[in-house]
Amino acid sequence: MRRFGVTDRGSAALAEAPAAAPVQIRRLGYGDLPAVLAIERRAFTTPWSLAMFVLELSKPSGICLAASDDGRLVGYLICSRYADVWHLMNIAVAPERRREGIATTLLGRMLELTGPDGRITLEVRPSNRPAIAMYERLGFRAAGNRRRYYHDNGEDALIMWLEEPGG
Ligand SMILES: CC(C)(COP(=O)(O)OP(=O)(O)OC[C@H]1O[C@@H](n2cnc3c(N)ncnc32)[C@H](O)[C@@H]1OP(=O)(O)O)[C@@H](O)C(=O)NCCC(=O)NCCS
Repeated sequence: MRRFGVTDRGSAALAEAPAAAPVQIRRLGYGDLPAVLAIERRAFTTPWSLAMFVLELSKPSGICLAASDDGRLVGYLICSRYADVWHLMNIAVAPERRREGIATTLLGRMLELTGPDGRITLEVRPSNRPAIAMYERLGFRAAGNRRRYYHDNGEDALIMWLEEPGG
């Protein structure tokens, strides 16, 4: 079953993923940024600034998605394209709405938009077990470290790539 209509890459993993959350997925806009920042500051020890979100939203090739429920923002995703590689830059869900499949739904929409071409990579803190579990469940695999990537505590970043089906 291709729950998200994804062809090829990602479809098998998403078929195994939690049931899609009953939220609306739409393009993230500048008007969402106050709500984005409210979630961001609860989600990360070193949250992105407003300027960082504005920069990402200004990139014409980027994928910036909002998950909303009854008009209320409950999660977001930012993905940027560099040459033929997509970088998942940011994803977060409001703490009180986690484990409902919202991030999986956002990632499923991202995979629809990135399509079968291009590759997807991300960096994650090795200590972020929930995020790593989610990415692994969707087919991302660890492929090395970036030494002392996180400035706040000197933690390495784990580099992950979404593997091709059967790869
Ligand atoms: C990581 C994050 C985005 C996941 O959002 P979410 O909407 O709760 O994720 P989902 O409900 O789609 O979870 C999908 C799967 O990921 C795994 N997972 C998610 N959270 C987990 C947790 N706390 N512990 C273990 N596994 C977890 C599970 O396999 C889960 O499926 P299940 O609920 O059926 O077991 C959310 O925890 C978050 O916003 N964290 C803070 C920001 C962050 O760390 N972002 C990632 C930066 S790289």
